[in-house]
Amino acid sequence: MKVLVAGGAGYIGSVCADLLVQSGYSVVVVDNLSRGHSQAVPSSAKRYCGDIANESFLDQVFRLEKPAAVMHFCALSLVGESVADPITYYQNNVSAGLVLLRVMLAHNVKKLIFSSTAAIFGEPTVVPISENTPASPVNPYGASKLMFERILSDLGHAYGFRSVSLRYFNAAGATEHHGEDHRPETHLIPIILDVALGKRQKLTVFGNDYPTPDGSCIRDYIHVADLAEAHILALEYLDRIEGAECFNLGNGQGFSVFEVVAAAEKVTGRSIPLEIGERRPGDPAVLVASSAKIRNTLGWQPRHRDIHEIIESAWRWKLEHPNGYNA
Ligand code: UFG
Repeated sequence: MKVLVAGGAGYIGSVCADLLVQSGYSVVVVDNLSRGHSQAVPSSAKRYCGDIANESFLDQVFRLEKPAAVMHFCALSLVGESVADPITYYQNNVSAGLVLLRVMLAHNVKKLIFSSTAAIFGEPTVVPISENTPASPVNPYGASKLMFERILSDLGHAYGFRSVSLRYFNAAGATEHHGEDHRPETHLIPIILDVALGKRQKLTVFGNDYPTPDGSCIRDYIHVADLAEAHILALEYLDRIEGAECFNLGNGQGFSVFEVVAAAEKVTGRSIPLEIGERRPGDPAVLVASSAKIRNTLGWQPRHRDIHEIIESAWRWKLEHPNGYNA
């Protein structure tokens, strides 16, 4: 079966493309390389450099490749950036995605796995967060993803379009060939590891006055390889559903910023100098997933639950690629 991976040169998209190849799927990657890296695309995947917002380009790719299903990872995903520049976020995450959906329908391709996010929940008052927790995004990034989920639901009713939205909590870690290389880097674990490597002087902890046991924010870090496995299971599941489904996807365990720093010090054997800074706008105090639905429905089980193991994989990748994919 041939799967088109839109955004397959990015962090999560490239790991999923790789796992698809390993699982015997034929893979076609489409990426505009605005944030992704061509070196991240698996060598056996066919690749097209272009934007999903370009309808004639996409139409040609579908005509040539005739994929049976699509995984859609193309998105901008920085909360702060989305607040500062909402037009660009809605353009990339909603309008460009609509072009992809239109081309899919024109070619009678009605199976999609969509990268959604915990950011659709905003500032939840109850944790762990289940699929029944009301979605109430507090920034344009989360709103753009929730809007796309809604569009998928409408397409299910109107056209028999089948989709699974996977709401990632904090993707982290690395596989043998793929790791985090965001530019700019804003994510906690790669920043901590840059400090361990001496590439940054210190970590700024964004707030130590949250209503949590140690005052720092708590997040649910999920290994990117576990995320990828969920995508394969979700792809197989598309044959058994009608319409749109969504699953929360996390480890089910929360770690504070200080706990992540302590774990990273243990893994790297290096001390991580830090300073306490202001809260980062839009950061909820606690985000922890209930993954009961995806465990029960798809039989998904995270294999890398230990935060040390997650950081260790990222550290290994960082040591081998101190300058990311450019190294
Ligand atoms: N943090 C720091 N210092 C830093 C970087 C991060 O203290 O230099 C803290 C943040 O305040 C947060 C935690 O570390 O409490 C994790 O921050 P990340 O930036 O690594 O991840 P986020 O939780 O902000 O974001 C992730 C995804 C987003 C998604 C969001 C869902 O990267 O795409 O989860 O809430 F929107």
